[in-house]
Amino acid sequence: MNFKKLSNTGLEIPEIGLGTWNYKGGVEPLKAGIEQRATLIDTAEGYYTEDLVGEAIKGIREDVIIATKVSGRNLAYDSVLRSCEQSLSKLQTDYIDLYQIHWPNDSYPIKETMRAMQKLVDEGMVYYVGVSNFDIDEVKEAQMYFSNYKIVSNQVRYNLNDREIEDDLLPYCIENEITILAYTPLASGKLCKTDGLLKSKKYKVLSEIAEEAGKTPGQAALNWCNSHENVISIPKSNSVERTIENCGASGWFLTKDQIQRLNEAF
Ligand SMILES: NC(=O)c1ccc[n+]([C@@H]2O[C@H](COP(=O)([O-])OP(=O)(O)OC[C@H]3O[C@@H](n4cnc5c(N)ncnc54)[C@H](OP(=O)(O)O)[C@@H]3O)[C@@H](O)[C@H]2O)c1
Repeated sequence: MNFKKLSNTGLEIPEIGLGTWNYKGGVEPLKAGIEQRATLIDTAEGYYTEDLVGEAIKGIREDVIIATKVSGRNLAYDSVLRSCEQSLSKLQTDYIDLYQIHWPNDSYPIKETMRAMQKLVDEGMVYYVGVSNFDIDEVKEAQMYFSNYKIVSNQVRYNLNDREIEDDLLPYCIENEITILAYTPLASGKLCKTDGLLKSKKYKVLSEIAEEAGKTPGQAALNWCNSHENVISIPKSNSVERTIENCGASGWFLTKDQIQRLNEAF
C-alpha cells in the first residue's frame, strides 16, 4: 500500500481507503482491508455504519484513521456539536481523525458551522476538518471562517467516467494542498466488469491496460485515480475478496503511456 500526506498535516494516509455507504458486509471486509493497510475508513452519520466501524476497529483504534461526516441538515452550530458527540459514541472513540461536512447547505450560515468545527478541534474531539461536495467558492468561504486551522480535504465524486473536477476543482486543490478523497472511484462497480456486458471501446482499453499491468480492470481504474498527486480513493465492497482486490490497486504504478491511453479513451 502506498501512502500520501493528508494536506500539509504530516499525517500519512493510505491511497486506498474503505468506503461504507450502502455497506452490508459486516466487520470482516473492513478487517481484511485494514490488514492490507487500507487503514482509512470513510463513514458518515447519514450512512448508519458508524456502529459497525466502531466494532471493526475495537482494540486497534490507534492504527486506524476514521473519516466521518456531519450531515448537511445538521450544520447549525449546536447540531454540529451534537452530531459529533453522537458519532464519537457510535464509533466508540474519543476522537475523530477527519470530520467532514457531508454536503454544503445554504440554509445554515457556514460561519456558524465552521465556528463549531473550530471548537471541536480546539477541544481535541476532532483532529482535522474536511468538506465534501464543495465547489471552489464554497471551500474558500468555509476556509475564511475557519481561520485558526486549514481545511485539509474535499471528498468528491471522481472516476474514469466522472471527471468534472479536472476542469477547476482538482487544480485548485492541488495548488492549495487540499487532499481529494475520490468517492465512487469504481463508478459504482461499472469499471470492474469484464463479462462482456460493456462492449464499448473505452472499457476494452481499460481491460487491455489492466491485462498489460497484470491487474484487474477495477485495480487499474483505482490506480488511475491515485495517479493524481493529491488524490486517494475510497472504494466500497461488501466482500472480503473484492476488498483485498481493491487494496491491490496500490503499491504499483501505471506507466505514463497507460495513463495517457486511459485519458484518451474515457
Ligand atoms: N461524500 C459523498 O457524498 C459520497 C457519495 C457517495 C459515496 N461516498 C463514499 O465513497 C464510497 C465508495 O463509493 P460508492 O460506494 O458509491 O461506489 P464504488 O466504490 O465506486 O462502487 C461500489 C460498487 O462496486 C462494487 N465493487 C467494489 N469493488 C469491486 C470489485 N473489486 N469487483 C467488482 N465489483 C466491486 C460494489 O459491490 P460489492 O459491495 O458487492 O463488492 C458496489 O456495488 C462510499 O462507500 C462512501 O464511503 C461518498
